[in-house]
Amino acid sequence: MTSQTLREARKYEEASAKLITEEKRPSFHLSARTGWMNDPNGFSYYKGQYHMFYQYYPYDIQWGPMHWGHATSKDLLHWEYLPAALAPDEFYDMDGCFSGSAIELPDGRQLLMYTGVVKERQKNGGFSEVQTQCIAIGDGVDYEKYEKNPVLDEHDVPEGGSRFDFRDPKIWRKEDGTYYCIAGNRPADGSGQILLFTSPDGFEWKYKKVLCANNNRFGLMWECPDFFKLDGKWVLLTSPQDMMPQGFEYHNGNGTLCLIGNFDEETESFTEEYSQSIDYGIDFYAPQTVLPPDGRRIMIGWMQNWDTCSLRAVDQPWYGQMSLPRELSVKNGRLYQYPIKELEDMRGKKVSYENVSFSDTTRLEGIKGRKIDMEIEICPADAEEIYTKFAIRFAQNENYYTSLSFRPHESILKIDRKFSGSRRAIIHQRRNLVNSKDGKLKFRMILDRFSVEVFVNNGENVMSAVIYTDIDADDISFIADGKVCMNIIKYDLN
Ligand code: FRU
Repeated sequence: MTSQTLREARKYEEASAKLITEEKRPSFHLSARTGWMNDPNGFSYYKGQYHMFYQYYPYDIQWGPMHWGHATSKDLLHWEYLPAALAPDEFYDMDGCFSGSAIELPDGRQLLMYTGVVKERQKNGGFSEVQTQCIAIGDGVDYEKYEKNPVLDEHDVPEGGSRFDFRDPKIWRKEDGTYYCIAGNRPADGSGQILLFTSPDGFEWKYKKVLCANNNRFGLMWECPDFFKLDGKWVLLTSPQDMMPQGFEYHNGNGTLCLIGNFDEETESFTEEYSQSIDYGIDFYAPQTVLPPDGRRIMIGWMQNWDTCSLRAVDQPWYGQMSLPRELSVKNGRLYQYPIKELEDMRGKKVSYENVSFSDTTRLEGIKGRKIDMEIEICPADAEEIYTKFAIRFAQNENYYTSLSFRPHESILKIDRKFSGSRRAIIHQRRNLVNSKDGKLKFRMILDRFSVEVFVNNGENVMSAVIYTDIDADDISFIADGKVCMNIIKYDLN
């Protein structure tokens, strides 16, 4: 039975999405159907296509009582909106259906596991949100909340674990057909931990253990965990709140963390070996992965950051978009991310140049656009004298530009959007230490109207940022201090 709250949301979103023309949105990045979007939820492959749900407040471009928006796609680039899947309409989730995940049951139904939120009055007169884990079962369009919800609550967290910070279940099936789920929780030390639960059927859950404890190392509370095996290692992704920068890592306040290590499936223990940021740009949070039948591990994140939400276009009728789908791999203890190969099918007109040498500002005929895929290789034009700086300016006109610049002597790549048209005094630049030798660097850059994603050295480092520059600012120029030699291939994306 669809509740009145969900019916109203579905009616509202359908009517108001009609008022948003296609050119006002990203073209191949999923954006809020209308109103507000945050985390990806329930990212899954079900009944022959990908499903993406998302944290959603249809009625405003601000965060509000959370619903689950819903879209499907065959290739993760062309999306079709479906009616909202969940609304806050039960006694255990009336203040929000927070993040969660999805899995197909052996009988063909799809199970969604999410966090139900209810505000509770505190002694000081304020409110705190009690968070429990809940289930809804459906057919890919309509979902029925489980009559025994919530399935995990404060009795299922270890001693000292908070009942106010207990959220974002990620579920998967083990080879023997039983289920695991992990969720973020705040232990007594005030930081974060990832709890592991098991279930014989996806409905009845039991607390197992702390899979990984933050111990105040990486930010505080850990949100939106994901955990999987990849290339012989185990990868734990999570989004810590309130991070402290360390060198060039973890600069986003609310940032992302990737821990790579081993998982002993007998004893269910995770041992960490390597740690890194997932994305080194400005806007990336709460990623989730899917494992389609072809065996690729594909990740999508919310291409936004809680600390920079005040950056928005005037009169924008939607807020929030997802990142590009990125295929993951682990090489030498490092997470690599590369745009899924399906993006290459969208490549249209090609313009390329080889061995262009320049030492000041230059423009290249045919190199422009806001929906493009570019591969760039740079090196010193004179091997004896390495240039001091290379920059590319894009989304440019006489008033605006965003830039990506590289200083070979420090090996630092910087993204800077302070002249992108923003009227807000927030962080607009991020620097990243990349691997480069002798002034050589290779990167791929994808623009989709309101964003830029840069994949350095075949995905060894990734930087993502949104830009809300007027869409007619589509020029690109190149700048060098010293002599740079460049190869460039640019495709329009259709
Ligand atoms: C992360 C997050 C999640 C929560 C959701 C609420 O961005 O804070 O922890 O489930 O957003 O919208």
